[in-house]
Amino acid sequence: MAASISDTLLDWYDAHARDLPWRAPPGAPPPDPYRVWLSEVMLQQTTVAAVKPYFEAFTSRWPDMQALAAAPEEDVMAAWAGLGYYSRARNLVKAAKAVAELGAFPADEEALRKLPGLGAYTAAAVAAIAFGQRAVVVDANVERVVSRLFTIADPLPGSRKEIRERTDEITPEERAGDFAQAMMDLGSSLCTVRDPKCLLCPLSHACAARAEGEPARYPVKAPK
Ligand code: ADE
Ligand code: SF4
Repeated sequence: MAASISDTLLDWYDAHARDLPWRAPPGAPPPDPYRVWLSEVMLQQTTVAAVKPYFEAFTSRWPDMQALAAAPEEDVMAAWAGLGYYSRARNLVKAAKAVAELGAFPADEEALRKLPGLGAYTAAAVAAIAFGQRAVVVDANVERVVSRLFTIADPLPGSRKEIRERTDEITPEERAGDFAQAMMDLGSSLCTVRDPKCLLCPLSHACAARAEGEPARYPVKAPK
């Protein structure tokens, strides 16, 4: 079942992936780690639509890590204005300097975790998307989709461990980065919070919440 979930989802992604400026086109080599990292940091608390123009502006002005590492912090903060959560921008400059000092982006999850501002999510996302590593990437979209696929009975945040284990089980050896982004696309287009569109969903054959009949119940809400 795990292989059929990832194979089916990757086929769906090949046909329906969103064309986003930080993604490589299908079949092309993986995108530059700098662009992946920058986009993932921007996307942490901000929507795809809001991030796009900021991502374009940042990458035209500072096309690589060396350029960003050399930028005065106040310029970066000014360019970040409007995105919110300003600690992200301060950490961006710190991490850029750390990477410039290393000479290159660390290529594995553990080393990425040591950079300023790179939490578990970002380190896993960069390792998988930019370096083709098999990392387990869990964001809010993935939490929702996985809670539904496996009718996880516990509410968040208590269910995080089980969600991570289930995500690990269905993450393929190859194309873990595409798989993660496919889960995000599925969560934002079909497996939405209020109105999951199970009739259009490529994973409906494997989804326990759909079979049960009330998928929007998941992730289960904690009693107040
Ligand atoms: N949200 C966070 N990372 C994303 C990505 N790589 N693609 C789409 N949405 C995302
Ligand atoms: Fe989500 Fe429905 Fe697809 Fe299950 S079948 S993953 S609930 S959209």
